Amino acid sequence: MGSLFSITADILWFFLPAIVANMAPVFAARYRWLPYLAVPLDGRHTLRGRRMLGEHKTLRGLVAGVVLGSAVGLWQGSLTASLMLSAGALLGDAVKSMAKRQLDIPPGRLWIPFDQIDFALGALLLGGWFVPVTAAHVVMAPIVLGIGSYAVSHLGVKLGIKENRE
Ligand code: CTP
Ligand code: MG
Repeated sequence: MGSLFSITADILWFFLPAIVANMAPVFAARYRWLPYLAVPLDGRHTLRGRRMLGEHKTLRGLVAGVVLGSAVGLWQGSLTASLMLSAGALLGDAVKSMAKRQLDIPPGRLWIPFDQIDFALGALLLGGWFVPVTAAHVVMAPIVLGIGSYAVSHLGVKLGIKENRE
């Protein structure tokens, strides 16, 4: 097992497409990219009387995340892996949103630790098979990415890019 530092560095590198995919929707919403894609992913459908995801989870966010995450992955030299990591990150985020809606937790309200680790778990499940991660990496990924996501989110709120601390 490598040092904690090298495992952390590996995780940041391997999961870079997922990190970018998770951040892209926030920029897409803030700077109103592709306005014609700003339609809710859930088609405004409800489940047990609650919105499946909510008005804020959009096709624009999904497209921005997959495109930018995969672009970073292409630069890293791994299109397949980065596609899976990016899609996994956004899928994890959506599954978490659906769980929050079912539990009557409104969009934007903190739900620790799931808001922080949703994308890491999704990326691990879908993309973890395509990148050379060990068991130590798998255990450390949600921790490293979760703490990183929490910190970056705070920064985003402070800089006025993001509305809530998730
Ligand atoms: N976003 C988007 N499309 C997506 C995912 C996210 O447009 N598929 C944008 C939305 O503007 C959203 C923001 O990115 O408000 C931040 O997303 P996130 O923090 O994951 O969602 P929350 O606002 O906290 O909502 P939830 O409670 O559903 O997690
Ligand atoms: Mg999220």
